Formats: sequence, C-alpha cells, structure tokens
Amino acid sequence: MTRHIFASLRLDNQLAEPLYRQIYLRLKEAIAQGTLVANSRLPSVRGLASDLGVARATVENAYSALVAEGYLQSRGQAGTFVSAQLVDVQDRSALSAVQTLPDITPSAFDSHPAGQVQPFQLGLPALDAFPRAVWQRIVARQLRGTTLAELAHPPVKGLAQLREAIAHYLHLSRGIACQPEQIFICAGYQALLDLAIHTLLQPGEAVWLEDPGYPVTRPMFTAAGMQAVPVAVDEEGMDIGAGIATRPDARMAVLTPTHQSPLGVTLSLARRMLLLDWAKRHEAWIIEDDYDSECRYQGKPLPPLKSLDRHGRVLYAGTFSKTLFPALRMAYLVVPAEQVTAFERSSRLRGCGCPPLLQAGVADFINAGHFYRHLKRMRLLYRQRREWLAQALTQRLGECLTVAPQAGGIQLLARLNAERNDSEWASLAWQQGLAVQALSDWQTLFPAAKGLLMGFANFTSYGEAERAVARLAAAIGR
Ligand SMILES: Cc1ncc(COP(=O)(O)O)c(C=O)c1O
Repeated sequence: MTRHIFASLRLDNQLAEPLYRQIYLRLKEAIAQGTLVANSRLPSVRGLASDLGVARATVENAYSALVAEGYLQSRGQAGTFVSAQLVDVQDRSALSAVQTLPDITPSAFDSHPAGQVQPFQLGLPALDAFPRAVWQRIVARQLRGTTLAELAHPPVKGLAQLREAIAHYLHLSRGIACQPEQIFICAGYQALLDLAIHTLLQPGEAVWLEDPGYPVTRPMFTAAGMQAVPVAVDEEGMDIGAGIATRPDARMAVLTPTHQSPLGVTLSLARRMLLLDWAKRHEAWIIEDDYDSECRYQGKPLPPLKSLDRHGRVLYAGTFSKTLFPALRMAYLVVPAEQVTAFERSSRLRGCGCPPLLQAGVADFINAGHFYRHLKRMRLLYRQRREWLAQALTQRLGECLTVAPQAGGIQLLARLNAERNDSEWASLAWQQGLAVQALSDWQTLFPAAKGLLMGFANFTSYGEAERAVARLAAAIGR
C-alpha cells in the first residue's frame, strides 16, 4: 500500500506550487485519507529523492514540515514514520490536506485602496515632496549597522535616541520642557489614546470630546466603556464653560487646541487658562492632540497647553503622520513626570508597536537636520497647494460654498449654506472616487453646520486641483 503511494507520486515542474510542497501535500492527503497509516515507515530521503528525480533537500523540506506539524516522527537511525498518535484520530477530515480559503469580501473599512492616493484624501501630507532618497539612505544605513543586541526586544517606551531627539525638538519648536523619560513612542494616535485610557481612566467615567471632532477619538472611548460627552466648538475652540456646566466631574478632556480638527480654529488663551484651572481643581486630565501644528503657514501659534501646565495635568500627543508620512505609524505621548511609572507599567502590557529600525531612522532624520528642513519646505508648499484648491473651488463652485480661512493644516473646509446636504454631496463624490468628507458626519450632538472637508496636500499643480474640482462639480450635479 505504502509503496503504491510513492510509486504514484508525480511531481509537476510547471505548477506554481514548489516541488517540496507538492510532496508535502500528497503525503498529508494520504495520511488524512488513511492510506498512510500510523507507524508506517516512509522511504529514506535519499531513496525518495532519487525515485522522484529531485534534490535531497526537496524531500527533506517536505518531511521536516510534516514532522513539525506532528504528522511524521523522525526516529533517528530507524527512519521516518507516520506519527503513532494518529492511531487515535477519529475524525480524519480534520487532517484534510488542503484547507480552502475563506471567501471574504473587502470590508468597507478599507475605504482607501492601499497604494493609491485619492483626490481630496484627508490626513495625507504631500507624499511626492517627502525626501524618500534621504530616508532610504538613512534606514539602509541603520539596517546595515544592526548590532546583535538590537535583535533583542526593544524598550517598551521607544528607543532612547528617538525620545531624546523629540524632547529636544519640542523644546526648540513648541517651548515644551520635558525629559526623554516622559516620552512614550506609540504606533499612531489610536495606540497612544489606548495607552492613556488604560493608564488613567476607569470604565464609566466621563470624557469631554470636541463636537465636531476627529471621528477616530469617540469610538476609542466608548469601546473602553467611557461616557463620551460632546462639547460644542465655536470660533474660540472647545467651549470649556459649557463642558464645566454639563459635566464638571469629567475625568478627561481631549482636544486639538492649536488647530481644531475639523474647524481649524484656535483655542483662545482665556479658554486655555479656564481649562487648565478646571483640570487642576478636579484632578482631571487633558489630552492635547497637537497633530498638525508643524504645518502652520500664517503667524505664530499660541503656546501649547503643555507649555502652560504647572500642575502636571496635560498629556501632549504628537504624530509623525503629517510631518513625515502616515505609513510610519509613529506618534508620541508626553506624560506628566509623576505619571511616568504608571505609564511604564501599562506600556509593558502593550509594547511600543513601532519597529526599532524605523525609530532609529526617524531619530537620525531629526538629528541630521532633515526634519527641520523638510518642515520649512512643507510650510511654503502647503500654502501654495491650499491656494490652488481654494481658487479652483471658488471659481467653479463659488456660488454654493465658501472656503473657510485657515492658518495652517493640510485639509480645507468649504462651508455650505444650511439648506445643502453635505452628507449627500460627500457620498456622491465618493461614488466617483473623490475622498471628500461631510462636516456634519464629524458631529454627534450639536446642530450640524454644513461643509465639505478636503485634503489638498497632494495636488501638484493648479491644473490638477482644477480637474478634481470639475469632477466634484459633475458628481454633485453643479
Ligand atoms: C485630529 C487628528 N489627531 C491625530 C491624528 C494622527 O493620527 P495617526 O498618528 O494615527 O496617524 C490625525 C491624523 O489624521 C488627526 O487628524
């Protein structure tokens, strides 16, 4: 019986399946069907290789894979056998050689096809302007220089050299005085929120969130069992007085004070002081999401809340998604000195999530001055690209929308008259592959202002912006 199986083993060089895998699959199938029974002896590697006309390594690979999976046992000099434990297996179908792949339709969550940049896509910096050659050289050098010790587990808070580079950068550019020990590197904004939530909060506690606000934030809190309290945003930023009036007992406030997402307004100094005072009195936490302050092209930003934090209530969140590129998945959280130990403890449960090779690359990129040069170039470029889109919108759609003024950032808000349906327009645009978003979809409670949110950083000419706007106009029937 066994001999018959091997005599009929035909391998096909034309198949995409490598030869070792063809042998592996045939043997696994024979075991599953019971044609190869427990304890039966297989031919020697040398013998089977010569019968099949393949290299010994090919048969060895097939046998090793089956030994590793427990189908075969190697009994030293005696040879290789079908595993004795298989005698007890009742349901042989579980051993079936070939698993069929489940049929999964692509999810709606994959809203942006990988490797493609859609016109108006939000959250993307100018990818064409990123100095890829410099970056590749830096990372390649890091890779070549990897030491033995660097193959072991990296520090859970992130590499020391990156935390030092960030501390230095924050001091110079944002007036924040912090020690590298206070900085935790995380795999993006969600990972840093997750770390903060699980270190500082308990399920059931209330958290103030901006309304309208970044749609990623709210589900993070509700999924962790918190009560999300929407707080309205006006031209002075989050209405802190309203937050205090509604839920003075909230344990945390999450906001984008420098450049509110999505309205683009700045939290006034008076509200900053009120917020800090509330946090001090109630021992509440503030997460200052400073996601795009580097992209400012008009005037100087107000000092970050963190630089005014005398009582250790502010956690400062920064990201490299806008300043470098989002695929890095690299962000950082600066925590109050008194909280470092608690954060270290909970980050041990999570790990840092950012490959150390890339962290070392970013540290080199900053230390060699490329980061500062890149930011300087991007400020000019974003002003120019924003202008292209604003002009194209005003020319083509000026009678139904108004481009809101803004001092920075990489997305633009075009306000619509109240009677227009921005959600419907955004969905018509999406059907045509235009990644426009509706302002009212970023709101939860308060009467929705109407508007369209659009990324402009990847329009490389006025003509390109104009063509995208013409497509948008056609999509919404204007
Ligand atoms: C308001 C806001 N916060 C934070 C981030 C950073 O997200 P991440 O670091 O996960 O890319 C973004 C990115 O678009 C953002 O818009």
